[in-house]
Amino acid sequence: MLHRRWFPDHIDGELVVLRRHTRENLRDFLRWYQDPEVARLTRYQDGPMRAEEIERFFTMRALGPESMAMGIHVRETGRLIGTCAFSQLDGDNGSTLFHITIGEHDAWGHGYGGEATRLMVDHAFGTLGLHRVALSVFAFNERAIRAYLRVGFEVEGRSREAIWRDGTWWDELHMSVLEPEWRAARWQARAVAEGRAEGVGDAGGGEPVGHRGGG
Ligand SMILES: CC(C)(COP(=O)(O)OP(=O)(O)OC[C@H]1O[C@@H](n2cnc3c(N)ncnc32)[C@H](O)[C@@H]1OP(=O)(O)O)[C@@H](O)C(=O)NCCC(=O)NCCS
Repeated sequence: MLHRRWFPDHIDGELVVLRRHTRENLRDFLRWYQDPEVARLTRYQDGPMRAEEIERFFTMRALGPESMAMGIHVRETGRLIGTCAFSQLDGDNGSTLFHITIGEHDAWGHGYGGEATRLMVDHAFGTLGLHRVALSVFAFNERAIRAYLRVGFEVEGRSREAIWRDGTWWDELHMSVLEPEWRAARWQARAVAEGRAEGVGDAGGGEPVGHRGGG
């Protein structure tokens, strides 16, 4: 089991608090992952997982020691709206894979996912001492891509026409952020806050991302 400092009970942000999952969260997992729209955005397979698959996924991914998973709670109300996790924590190479799902539709687009991602990236580099955080996202998932770019992820590659969805082929984008980039962005943000430098816009923002496959 990971050390408490590496896998804390909670990580506090301004909009959200990340908390370790409890068994009671399974009820929400079942609702989120049986939702066709969540499945459309997150799964290769057509349609949502079956209840027993979700239970297995919850036990392994949310509670199991192989990944570091946190529930995403709205700070003001405590409401559980989603989950985020590191999997494939690789100490030899200092890397991990990031996953996030806000299961409550009405919580999309309020900055919660972006902040949860930033908190996890800060944790990866600032506490776990990792070198690289990577993720994959379907090219049609523009909301997710925008949130990741804002946190500082860059598109590093794509699996062309890897997924058939809504009657067409789409690429799967591979994105990552490296520790020196994260450190430089933090230094820049601090310098701007202290009036020692001018802002240069959003971290990683503005990079063109193709939406269709084959590009
Ligand atoms: C992807 C996800 C984590 C993003 O979290 P979020 O809280 O919704 O995102 P944020 O509000 O932090 O940021 C969303 C960004 O997309 C923009 N956006 C919002 N709705 C959008 C839409 N329908 N289309 C395109 N962009 C959109 C926002 O303006 C914001 O960009 P900006 O900061 O440059 O203005 C969340 O929406 C989610 O879990 N969705 C369902 C599951 C999923 O897609 N998981 C990711 C799989 S890789």
